[in-house]
Amino acid sequence: MSAPDPIIRIADLPDRVGQTVTLSGWVTHLRSSGKIAFIVMRDGTGVLQCVVAKKEVPETAWEAFATLTLETSLQVTGVVRADARQAGGVELGLSDLAVIGPSALDYPIQPKEHGIDFLLDHRHFWLRTPRQVAIMRIRNEIEQAIHDFFYERGFLRVDTPILTAAIGERAGLFSTEYFDEGNAYLAQTGQLYGEAAAAAFGKIYTFGPTFRAEKSKTRRHLTEFWMIEPEVAFNDTHANMRLQEDFVAFLVRRAVERRRAELLELGRDVAKLEAAQTPFPRVDYGDAVKTLQAKGSAIQWGDDLGAEDEALLVEDYATPIFVCNYPKEAKAFYMKENPDDPRTVLCDDMLAPEGYGEIIGGSQREDDHDKLLARIREEGLPEDAYSWYLDLRKYGTFVHAGFGLGLERTVAWICGSPHIRECIPFPRMMHRLRP
Ligand code: 4AD
Ligand code: MG
Repeated sequence: MSAPDPIIRIADLPDRVGQTVTLSGWVTHLRSSGKIAFIVMRDGTGVLQCVVAKKEVPETAWEAFATLTLETSLQVTGVVRADARQAGGVELGLSDLAVIGPSALDYPIQPKEHGIDFLLDHRHFWLRTPRQVAIMRIRNEIEQAIHDFFYERGFLRVDTPILTAAIGERAGLFSTEYFDEGNAYLAQTGQLYGEAAAAAFGKIYTFGPTFRAEKSKTRRHLTEFWMIEPEVAFNDTHANMRLQEDFVAFLVRRAVERRRAELLELGRDVAKLEAAQTPFPRVDYGDAVKTLQAKGSAIQWGDDLGAEDEALLVEDYATPIFVCNYPKEAKAFYMKENPDDPRTVLCDDMLAPEGYGEIIGGSQREDDHDKLLARIREEGLPEDAYSWYLDLRKYGTFVHAGFGLGLERTVAWICGSPHIRECIPFPRMMHRLRP
């Protein structure tokens, strides 16, 4: 169901067998033998083999072929021919060819192995390669599925501020001077505003960039990443987890249904994704610590789970799992005290299988004004910046819960990518601000 595009794209060609078409793209591969030559070109929607027979094209076109280099942009005209051996099942028999923009001979990305730093330095070109195109199409599918999931369920999308005075999480902060108002911080989360919005609209979600000045150089940390944060009035921690598992199962199903070709391009074992059926197991934090200790981890009750602990714990499961009710000291100030064990809070982390680790952090929120104020003081947070947040507990407090899904970590798991840096178009990390 695509709206008409006045420009013909490679992906349209299977419907145009027998027609003469003109289209544009970039050269990815060249080969010739005497009077016949082949151009493989891409245009972002697919790849196409073009056949150039010397006797079927004007002299100028044959001469133009000789000047082609990797990534030259060009326009071609020809007849679409069915050919089962080709990607997309078609090839183009050229009748004409013209260069749009030549590409210098030293194009940085050549058909050979490049180191990761080199590729990241040339991210503006690396993005053109088949693996990266597949990842970005899957990312886009997941983004669209996220909007569809919440729209179909009557959630309102709320855009929360990026410049803020109220800090949400413990991770490092980016700050900047803000006129006469002191420091502004780049948002680590939209959650606190999401809570205010939940009291206004009932069910909301945010979808925006979030920032953490974390000095971590792991394969799961970016300094700028995209987070989706639903917040639901009158959901408790159990309803919160049910929403999370339905949501994640929906996203995986969508990727498998609509982006199977891209998953296969990445060599992803789709059966492993298809195993992500609800309900996902709930593992109490205390039990998780015991299991981990039995597996040889040095974790002690009170510690947050490290990446290695998370990988150890999910070994026994084919689906994502929840680890529930962490100790207070391991988690953020806004989580609701667990009435059954006040050393802990009503929260959950969702851990993806195959060692991909935490993709969601969620919790029921502290709705008791005095307890929340005490936690803000314990954490040494600036009280005045939170007065509006405390007000939510003063004027019609309400049971509510929500969570944050990290987009890049989710894309990495679904794609089977070893590092989240290739799951965002232009990654920002501790040592990377360019391109
Ligand atoms: O667990 P986090 O810190 O939770 C929050 O920010 C809450 N305010 C969410 C909420 O309840 N509304 O972060 C949520 C998720 C993590 O599970 C992870 O997937 C992702 O955000 N994340 C990161 N992704 C990439 N790089 C980083 N540095 C990340 N930090 C968190
Ligand atoms: Mg977390």
